[in-house]
Amino acid sequence: MNILILGSGGREHSLAWAVKQNPKCDRLIVAPGNAGIAEIAECAALDIENGGAVATFADENAIDFVIVGPEAPLAAGVADRLRDAGIAVFGPSAAAARLEASKAFTKSICDAAGAPTAAYAHFKDIDAAKAYVHAQGTPIVIKADGLAAGKGVIIAETADQAMDALEHMFGGSFGAAGAEVVIEEFMTGEEASFFVLCDGETVLPLGTAQDHKRVGEGDTGPNTGGMGAYSPAPVMTPDVTQAALDEIVKPTMAEMARRGTPYQGVLFVGLMIEDGKPRLVEYNVRFGDPECQVLMMRLGAQVLDLMQAVVENRLEGAQVNWAEDHALTVVMAAKGYPGGYEKGAVIRGLDALPEDSSNMVFHAGTARQGGEYIAAGGRVLAVTARAGDLETAQRRVYDMVDRIDWPEGFCRRDIGWRALD
Ligand code: AMP
Ligand code: GLY
Repeated sequence: MNILILGSGGREHSLAWAVKQNPKCDRLIVAPGNAGIAEIAECAALDIENGGAVATFADENAIDFVIVGPEAPLAAGVADRLRDAGIAVFGPSAAAARLEASKAFTKSICDAAGAPTAAYAHFKDIDAAKAYVHAQGTPIVIKADGLAAGKGVIIAETADQAMDALEHMFGGSFGAAGAEVVIEEFMTGEEASFFVLCDGETVLPLGTAQDHKRVGEGDTGPNTGGMGAYSPAPVMTPDVTQAALDEIVKPTMAEMARRGTPYQGVLFVGLMIEDGKPRLVEYNVRFGDPECQVLMMRLGAQVLDLMQAVVENRLEGAQVNWAEDHALTVVMAAKGYPGGYEKGAVIRGLDALPEDSSNMVFHAGTARQGGEYIAAGGRVLAVTARAGDLETAQRRVYDMVDRIDWPEGFCRRDIGWRALD
């Protein structure tokens, strides 16, 4: 098979790494890719949000299977365009991708499906939104309706913060994404990410993970795209997992099918768990980054077979072969991230690190310059290891981190603390 993966982050590097191990994979192209991905696959410049361009590229390169990494091409209908052209594609339609692209849509689906989630109201008008916040009190959660690259959620501790957030969103700081706003009850508990595959009908659990969203140790400071993750998540006990499937995931998938927009792909179910009961925080219509890195390290080559089963509507007979293992990843970012940061610093020491089925440095934002790796993004590397227990995986990751010579970078030293305490 000739396979095309769309995206350029650590998530796509780990997808490429896993897919490449499958003997069915003959040729692997990642568009646009990055310097780490270029070590294991061909990289191609391509506007991945342009469905016509992707379909033409796939046709010209005799691509048999496309895997869409990020949400933007999905929301833009790239998977629809490929399916129309008769190309097999792993990723939901634009209509199904609304589960991530519109928070108000997801809330309405939860209502119809009876799925437990935070109480909410949906506004197109700032005065009504302000009145609602005053009536509800704080803390309260204010969300731009549309895609805002992870920055569209404000947890307001005070009424003033809530008013500021509303002024910002309705004032256009998130563009069209903020023209409508969802205001939610603040939920307490422990968060976890649950990944399932769905072929439109059948749901197959793929794995669990926990992310560390805050930039600082002890989960302090501003939110980021994710500073590290581990899998499995201990809070996802068999009972919690079953409740999430029965009360949230399956009713949502059934409602999507009932509406004539069945969901096909991986669904990232963000949960808040309190007293053993899961409630939905959000859906994403793709793998998480860096959650994907730990999932791929645990799943390996079989992920391609599972994706094919999704696309060919035969998930019912499929199964995931799990090992009793744990994986952990630590993100190394450019100093200043998630605020302003510099690009171009040289990263040394990567070539001396192990690269095998249990240790991998996935690249999130690197480029090659004069034979050296340079930092080319905010999140730059995802240093990842797998072991029989989480403590060993963590130790091995930090051993690798300590061998990377990049003074302009930083990482959190406490990834995994919640599970190791
Ligand atoms: P989202 O983009 O919806 O995942 O929100 C980003 C983060 O904000 C989540 O991972 C949670 O940590 C937090 N969050 C979102 N909604 C709520 C809520 N209703 N209650 C508490 N925390 C929330
Ligand atoms: N790590 C969170 C996300 O990918 O949305």
